[in-house]
Amino acid sequence: MTARLNVNIDHVATVRQARRTIEPSVVAAAMACEQAGADGITIHLRGDRRHIQDADVRLLREAVTTYLNVEMAATEEMMKIAIEVKPDAVSLVPENPGEITTEGGLNVRANIAIVRAAVNRLREAGIMASLFIDPDPMQIESAREVNAQQVELCTAAYAESTLGALGIHGEGAAQASHELRRLREGAALAAQYGLHVAAGHGLTTRNVGAVARISEVSEFNIGHHIVSRAVFVGLDRAVREMREAIATA
Ligand code: PXP
Repeated sequence: MTARLNVNIDHVATVRQARRTIEPSVVAAAMACEQAGADGITIHLRGDRRHIQDADVRLLREAVTTYLNVEMAATEEMMKIAIEVKPDAVSLVPENPGEITTEGGLNVRANIAIVRAAVNRLREAGIMASLFIDPDPMQIESAREVNAQQVELCTAAYAESTLGALGIHGEGAAQASHELRRLREGAALAAQYGLHVAAGHGLTTRNVGAVARISEVSEFNIGHHIVSRAVFVGLDRAVREMREAIATA
């Protein structure tokens, strides 16, 4: 079955926050993505509020009719917001001050008590609890231990290895196949543990196919490439192109 596509619209808020104004609207962007066939909308409410704001989360909860996934750190502040707003899913992610974007997966093993408590609170509130982790068997095992329902495997290392000329020939190709093997094995292990398997970070229409061919992967969270492409062709076409790349993989 074709994996679902959640479009991450953080960058729409980034453009808006560049002027601290009202446009472009994240709600209008979410509607455009849904009309183009997106299966869900993903946003990341960061501690520093650099793009998505608290009000956006509430407005999107009202407006999104497909599926709303909110990425957040497992802090007390964020748990309170999640439980109040009740998105369909919360993806727990690591957050490092000053990072440009999420740098790799959550270290569930090292933070097992905090993650377990957060997963329990989310699940009690009826929210699907997903953990963004590297495709590392130890982290997948920990995700099972803390009772998560889903893992989102971080595709950043794979995606980086496909960038530029080295991604097609030579070193990059060898690295890409190594990273793909880790994703394939990670997805199989997670599914064996009864976890839903999502994937995301750094994916483009050019490199998503190989990940979409991993049968256990049932969901993608993709933002940067779609919004970048939308600058030239509009969100509608950018979302359709990504859906097509996933469906025809
Ligand atoms: N999944 C997670 C957990 C992320 O933090 C991000 C980036 O916000 C993505 C997926 C999407 O990554 P990209 O914007 O590179 O497609």
